[in-house]
Amino acid sequence: MIEALNNKIFRIVSQQALLQGVRAYVIGGYVRDYFLQRPSNDVDIVVEGSGIALAEAVANALHCKLSVFKNFGTAMLKYKGTELEFVGARKESYDRTSRKPIVEDGSLEDDQLRRDFTINAMAFSLQDEDYGELVDPFGGIRDLNAGIIRTPLDPDTTYSDDPLRMIRAIRFATQLGFSIVPESLDSIKRNKYRLDILSRERIAEELHKILMSPTPSIGFVLFDKCDLLDAFLPALSNLKGVETMEGRGHKDNFLHSLQVLDNVAQASDNIWLRWAALLHDIGKPATKKWEATIGWTFHNHDFIGSKMIPGIFKELKMPLNEKMKFVQKMVLLHLRPIALVTDEVTDSAVRRLLFDAGDDIDDLMILCKADITSKNDRKVENFKHNYEIVQQKMVEVEEIDRLRNFQNPITGEIIMQRFNIPPCNTIGVIKEYIKNAILDGVIPNDYDAAYRLMEKKAAELGL
Ligand code: CTP
Repeated sequence: MIEALNNKIFRIVSQQALLQGVRAYVIGGYVRDYFLQRPSNDVDIVVEGSGIALAEAVANALHCKLSVFKNFGTAMLKYKGTELEFVGARKESYDRTSRKPIVEDGSLEDDQLRRDFTINAMAFSLQDEDYGELVDPFGGIRDLNAGIIRTPLDPDTTYSDDPLRMIRAIRFATQLGFSIVPESLDSIKRNKYRLDILSRERIAEELHKILMSPTPSIGFVLFDKCDLLDAFLPALSNLKGVETMEGRGHKDNFLHSLQVLDNVAQASDNIWLRWAALLHDIGKPATKKWEATIGWTFHNHDFIGSKMIPGIFKELKMPLNEKMKFVQKMVLLHLRPIALVTDEVTDSAVRRLLFDAGDDIDDLMILCKADITSKNDRKVENFKHNYEIVQQKMVEVEEIDRLRNFQNPITGEIIMQRFNIPPCNTIGVIKEYIKNAILDGVIPNDYDAAYRLMEKKAAELGL
């Protein structure tokens, strides 16, 4: 017996289905995630009959609110943190010019056959006679155990029914570390022109999920393998390849960017820092030059790259807000810590970097460290060593800054009260004396030491 189904909600769905004389099943992501041991609160219920009618009965029995989407034939309710979506089992065919299905009622198996992947087409029965039993006609469990993404139908049919599934295939492969079966990969290549009908928002949503995966590069390598990159991230696709002059090549900036992305993913869950990692060298193709005396150069690619970010965000209908500005800032500043490491590390340079990066300095340092992808171990070690020096310097400079933004522990108020004097010059003289003593390290930056010094100075001044 599936433990997760042993609760009130599923029992009530089961009872109400029996009362209505229909068959209901838990289906899709919830079942997949149960076997992946990723507990989920989103439950899809498929009904051989009307999804809306069963949802109404369940909402009544649970005394909770129901949202009905008549056009889609679905209804949704929330009960104690669990979200249940009900839909009638369908036999679908799709209008090829949009993602809208033309729906006909069908059996559970018709419905499962029309789903995207075998691992997403498994169901648990909610009928009394076989409550909790897995209904898996297309080998979902087999594929889940083998780590395989496969469509229940011929992939050409599944993908052309809903082209978003091509990107979902790559997203699941990335999230789960699964492989996509070769015939599916070939089909994605063949059907890529169908991506045109997808909204950019949907694509961006999938890209976010890929970026938040443990090894996000998997998804971008697959996009490239299926020739999809040009469709929604042409600037990234432009980074591909190596040019050689006089026997000297530059690195493949696409593969380098992916490695930096994976490195950042190891160090931070900040999705916008991951975007910045993916796009940090986006200005390189536009700035690439062969200079006979130096070799390949990409002068100003940080600046040009940061200018390209709004266009990329706009194209993907991503927010043009402070998140985008953060990505721009990271791209613009990504060379600064490296410059510090290679040049002489002066206090003023460190202070300027701290000032420009502000609160984002830690993120910038993560990106900068992730940017070290040299295969030369000695170079990497050297770099890491210098990087530690910069970080140490930053701590020191921040310590000085604490004094720069320093607030005198002894206020004019305290002096006036202690010596019972009105506002006058003497107060300024005492405060200045205390401040200099702290900045010169004569006394520590604390109240008691400053108070004692105030008493001493006041006595000297005859108060
Ligand atoms: N589904 C599908 N084709 C799609 C989207 C979804 O066949 N383009 C089906 C799959 O059976 C999927 C279910 O609808 O499991 C629910 O979809 P959704 O909630 O979008 O995704 P999940 O599979 O639950 O995964 P995630 O929450 O990670 O997006």
